[in-house]
Amino acid sequence: MNIAVIGAGYVGLVTGACFAELGNHVTCIDIDVKKVTALQQGILPVYEPGLEALVKSSIAENRLHFATSLADVSVMPQVIFIAVGTPADEDGSADMRYVLDAAKGIGDYMTDYCVIVDKSTVPVGVADQVEGIVRAQLAQRGATTNFDVVSNPEFLREGAAIDDFMRPDRIIIGLTSKRARNIMQELYQPITRHPEKIYFMTVRDAEMTKYVANAMLATRISFMNEMAVLCEKMAVDIENVRIGIGSDTRIGARFLYPGCGYGGSCFPKDVKALIHMAEQHGIDPLILHAVEHRNVLQKQWLPQKIMARLGENLTGMRIGVWGLSFKPETDDMREASSLVLLEKLIAAGATVLAYDPVAIPMAKKILPARWLTSGQLVLAAHQYDALAQVDALALVTEWKPFCYPDLGAMQSLMRQAIVFDGRNQYNPTQLRDAGFEYYGIGRGIEKALETV
Ligand SMILES: NC(=O)c1ccc[n+]([C@@H]2O[C@H](COP(=O)([O-])OP(=O)(O)OC[C@H]3O[C@@H](n4cnc5c(N)ncnc54)[C@H](O)[C@@H]3O)[C@@H](O)[C@H]2O)c1
Repeated sequence: MNIAVIGAGYVGLVTGACFAELGNHVTCIDIDVKKVTALQQGILPVYEPGLEALVKSSIAENRLHFATSLADVSVMPQVIFIAVGTPADEDGSADMRYVLDAAKGIGDYMTDYCVIVDKSTVPVGVADQVEGIVRAQLAQRGATTNFDVVSNPEFLREGAAIDDFMRPDRIIIGLTSKRARNIMQELYQPITRHPEKIYFMTVRDAEMTKYVANAMLATRISFMNEMAVLCEKMAVDIENVRIGIGSDTRIGARFLYPGCGYGGSCFPKDVKALIHMAEQHGIDPLILHAVEHRNVLQKQWLPQKIMARLGENLTGMRIGVWGLSFKPETDDMREASSLVLLEKLIAAGATVLAYDPVAIPMAKKILPARWLTSGQLVLAAHQYDALAQVDALALVTEWKPFCYPDLGAMQSLMRQAIVFDGRNQYNPTQLRDAGFEYYGIGRGIEKALETV
């Protein structure tokens, strides 16, 4: 099939590269000229395992192209995906500017029937707006071209995006037209050998499914974070509780990990947008407010614990930070817990030595330049360089190289052997036996220590 994907960010690029890998002819369109020029040379704007190889091979096979405008696509695509950003607006609602601009571009360009697919996460009713805009643009040109608008929200996880796309748990497709249904079924056929993996529903149902899925996942995290706070006060180890409840098949073990808060480009903005949708309909979303509030508090956990131990004034103190990205296997730092931690530590006068396996270039791009020029923040080239004479280590992101560190090397490098484990990666007993002072989340550690 001929496909166009509007927006060559995380989702657009993965969508385009994967459909090209499946033999389709794909053009990814982005208004960011620099991004497009780099992509044409196989240089990716994001880090995602496996993506670069996929992009390069499909470029070489002449199946994947990049352009800055639909006008550059000579063969009319049968399917046009909209995969542009939908960031949170000031009032928490999802900003639809980019989606509606993309719709306008499609209406100006379309010459033949095509299926327009909303892959961006959009509030209920946006597909109708997209349809209205395309229709208005066509009318302006006196064109009567037929088309369908379909909702096909994306559920990929950054860091595992290719696998999630190629082996999805499910594909949600909202539509009404039979013609569009046949095209979507054909498009996804290679990755949905089991037909029950595609769920057809109305467009509005599909739009809502995406928000409810993300809100549910965020709720599980905030719930466990709240339980961790309670466990910590009661000399209970949340990790044992997690295993205990996760073995209940009604609950399940995934997405039950307490930590120093969720981040990324999706959960925070999607919870906000759902709150906004609820309020617009006169519903007070009590649970969603609590999920968001707990997450804000949770991101304070690391700085608060560090200051409770080392003092409010951290002048002269050096703190090592492992992990800057919002989760492992990505360089995405949007809404990352590390941002809150760095800001608090630097404001308190500390010198921060931070290391991340892939997010250092991203950190240089998005963090205040004055932190680096003043020496308040040092971006280390190696994980152990971030421990030089530090008074404590804060683990923020559970990258694999941090799982089994050389405890002896850490001891000899650190000025004070104190570990604040924001992801409960370490065995408290093992660390204590190795001479570390250890703080995990919800591990009842302070109370437990009193009794040893
Ligand atoms: N990142 C994820 O893990 C993820 C997962 C599932 C769903 N989503 C959703 O997918 C959508 C895209 O997210 P993302 O993370 O890929 O965003 P992104 O910010 O990485 O990429 C968006 C891209 O769209 C481009 N763009 C904006 N307006 C355009 C236009 N009119 N024409 C062409 N290009 C345009 C931007 O330049 C940018 O490159 C969002 O709605 C998001 O909520 C994201």
